[in-house]
Amino acid sequence: MNQTPEEAAITKLAVASFAATADPRLREIVQGLVRHVHAFAQETGLTEREWLAGIQFLTATGQMCDGLVRQEYILLSDVIGLSMLVDAINHRSDSLVTESTVFGPFYIEGMPERVYGENMAFTPGEPALLTGRVTDAEGQPLADAVLDIWQTASNGMYSGQDQRQPDSNLRGRYRTDAQGRYAIRTILPVSYPIPTDGPVGQLLAATGRHPWRPAHLHFKIEAAGHRTLVTHLFNHDDPYLDSDAVFGVKDSLRIAYTSVPGNDPVAQPFGIDGAVLHAHYDFVLPPVTCS
Ligand code: BEZ
Ligand code: FE
Repeated sequence: MNQTPEEAAITKLAVASFAATADPRLREIVQGLVRHVHAFAQETGLTEREWLAGIQFLTATGQMCDGLVRQEYILLSDVIGLSMLVDAINHRSDSLVTESTVFGPFYIEGMPERVYGENMAFTPGEPALLTGRVTDAEGQPLADAVLDIWQTASNGMYSGQDQRQPDSNLRGRYRTDAQGRYAIRTILPVSYPIPTDGPVGQLLAATGRHPWRPAHLHFKIEAAGHRTLVTHLFNHDDPYLDSDAVFGVKDSLRIAYTSVPGNDPVAQPFGIDGAVLHAHYDFVLPPVTCS
């Protein structure tokens, strides 16, 4: 929609009202936001009804947040691709390090530290074993790196979200050994829908989008002197890999699980009865100075 001189003057005035902001970065962000929100209203020819519907949508989004487990604003940022855009802008590092992806709203701090190869699953599923190493970009092992991991149960819900699950079900912190190795026993991740009982679910329904995420494990990996890595590992054959509701999939983060017997050399150290689905993945962390 064309801009009248009166409309241009409103935008100019609103942007200029923040010109005296002492913090230059705050000034840049607020003025940029005002400019872009005005441009959005201008481009769409926003009606007063639509403006009010937007205000009501954002109000309902805030009311859905409980500050801890349910963060509807993060969910909104995720489904409009903003979270992944911010992730991309902030991780323009080289191809030698493991790619990052969306954090999501279901991380819980302070989960139990688990020993090498400990099972973090207290609810049923297909037994799985994930092994690998954490190294720096030169391939040197990072000892004492901490892998903070979370995934849903087979019902597609996270502990914390689903009161029937034990508190630390499918969550835990694993430390790498002197060779940078880690081993995690769990269950095979399943695909699951993001929460649809709030305004974000209504947005997806109104726009004909599905809410599904491909099956994945979440990782937050910390090692001294290295940049913290937030990422996922996705089941390589999941039907939702090409239509993730939050745009989080990257090819380099797909892993294939293969069934191995409990007496296979890879499974044998963990005393696993019967077959287990095994996957291997090496994480590479950039140094702290890397942008
Ligand atoms: C998740 O993978 O836990 C997640 C990410 C974004 C939105 C909802 C859930
Ligand atoms: Fe998830």
